[in-house]
Amino acid sequence: MRTFRMKNRNGIEVGFNSAGASIAYVLTPDRYGNFKNIALTLPEPKDYLNNEIYAGATVGPVAGRIKDGILPVLDQTYHLCRNEGNNTLHGGEKNFAHVIWNMTDFRENEDEASLRFSYTAPDGENGFPGNRKVSVEYILNRLNQLIISYTAETDKPTYLNITNHCYWNLSGDFNRDAYDHILKINADTVYYNDIQFLPTEYVDVKNSPFDFQTPRKIRDAFLNFPDHEQLKLNKGFNHAYLTKGDEAVFLSDNKSGRTLTISTDYPCVVFYSGGFLDQISGNENQRRPAVGSGLAFEAQYLPDAPQLMGDSLPILFPGMIYRKKIVFGFGTK
Ligand code: GLA
Repeated sequence: MRTFRMKNRNGIEVGFNSAGASIAYVLTPDRYGNFKNIALTLPEPKDYLNNEIYAGATVGPVAGRIKDGILPVLDQTYHLCRNEGNNTLHGGEKNFAHVIWNMTDFRENEDEASLRFSYTAPDGENGFPGNRKVSVEYILNRLNQLIISYTAETDKPTYLNITNHCYWNLSGDFNRDAYDHILKINADTVYYNDIQFLPTEYVDVKNSPFDFQTPRKIRDAFLNFPDHEQLKLNKGFNHAYLTKGDEAVFLSDNKSGRTLTISTDYPCVVFYSGGFLDQISGNENQRRPAVGSGLAFEAQYLPDAPQLMGDSLPILFPGMIYRKKIVFGFGTK
């Protein structure tokens, strides 16, 4: 396991851990120039090897849940490792978040610094087909953007859905919830979940707590819809939004003035408001993140796409290159 850091000319600093090719911290300034870490960090670097809350991790081969661990690819059905009840979460037990990636290609010039992690997932690992060569490139540029590029190749038709699982708190205080942040999600539709957190029903966000088309405080959704079944079941938000345009999410914190823009070419963002963050295991004296203290926005293909998309599942064939991007833009207002 190795750690690494990069810093841009404006003082923004990002730390990485080769376990899970993870983002370990992100130091950004508030409106007065005071730097704080805004990405949830595990207590010790070695904790990234067993990162049960996926803090900052690269998630895959398939982010989200797959019902009954069944993956149909063309005329084959693959039975995956089931690590959450009867379902597969984030690709099963030995997933991308829990392996050590090779750290290579560090480059730096006047404008940007970059770093690449690679991992080859062997054919059959957790039941998935194909020897899959995956790489994650992180670029930190002078425009205060952290650009994540995922690329992959396979030698058998397979399905990949790779994302990043940072939990953000723009105040930098992970002892308290971040529900006073103002959120905009560029989406008019969202998937509701069943009791296993599998997406089921596709609904319009209008007149519901899920409507963040106009920026508003997350806490207002809880206050205005205290009895909403979906919020109770998921302890807040844990839902897949079908996002429109490039700029999927805009988050801001009035107090510190910090802002975060998330752009992606994925069609969907799962907004998880961290309702289960206090359930992290560990020794009794260990400080646990508070409920809602970190907000995750997992840009990806639809969760449970193998069931929901049927024949339109975006399969990766040998000879093709998987190429997806997530950009985190840091600012102040
Ligand atoms: C995982 C997922 C989140 C959320 C939680 C719920 O961490 O990545 O989106 O569903 O599980 O426990």
